[in-house]
Amino acid sequence: MHKPIRKAILPVAGLGTRFLPATKTVPKEMLTVVDRPILQHVVDEAMAAGVEHFVFVTGRNKAVIEDHFDIAYELEDTLRKRGKTAELKMLLDYLPEPGNCSFTRQQAPLGLGHAIWCARELVGNEPFAVLLPDMVTLPGASKTQCLAQCVETYREHGGNVIAVEEVTPEETHQYGVVAVGRDFGRDFEITGMVEKPAKGTAPSNLIISGRYILQPEIFPLLEKVEKGAGGEIQLTDGMKALSDTQSFYGVRFDGRT
Ligand code: UTP
Repeated sequence: MHKPIRKAILPVAGLGTRFLPATKTVPKEMLTVVDRPILQHVVDEAMAAGVEHFVFVTGRNKAVIEDHFDIAYELEDTLRKRGKTAELKMLLDYLPEPGNCSFTRQQAPLGLGHAIWCARELVGNEPFAVLLPDMVTLPGASKTQCLAQCVETYREHGGNVIAVEEVTPEETHQYGVVAVGRDFGRDFEITGMVEKPAKGTAPSNLIISGRYILQPEIFPLLEKVEKGAGGEIQLTDGMKALSDTQSFYGVRFDGRT
């Protein structure tokens, strides 16, 4: 039996420079997709995979994220007085259980690897999920969401799991790319990882796509990782170091981003 995945880290401390000016005052993760902030979709995906505790790694100017997962007293009171029970119920249904959200700050945006490391004390010594809340995944025919598919692979194989997505070989240099070992069809053993490989050198066309299950032994390794691509502490470099002693599996998830 592998330890259950109870906690998820949601790193939301990035600057969102690619989406300026939209992200000047609104965090990128709070931009709306269909009817709710991207971050709400991601929390829903994690809940569907059995996650009970959410660790948000935030930064300055991100306080609205905390407010989104809290009661909105005046708003709820007004809705109640006006008899808007459906709207009130919807708000209350989305409220996490008290104590199920933790917030910590990454004081400077030093990279995704550093953001994950900032959550080490809140996660402790157990395997955890990471969801990058700047992308939404849509389930495919199986109707199972991406992180839940990663959890299925984790239950079968244990170790560490990364969701991967296929891109054209011309696009691989923009992403983290994995090398494929023993292949089981939907999932496979990962034998190598490289962040933003030079054109023509990628080991496959399968890119790391924002949903992970990781073992806590990654934390001390992230502390030692040197700044990599883009002058940032890269999660991929920490995972590469961990892969010297632990197994990694890739999941070609059924669905799209
Ligand atoms: P990105 O690199 O896509 O986010 O990181 P970013 O830094 O906001 O992007 P741009 O290039 O400036 O537009 C993926 C996720 O990791 C978080 C981001 O908030 C995003 O959700 N992140 C990234 C951190 O929390 N801290 C960091 O130092 C970097």
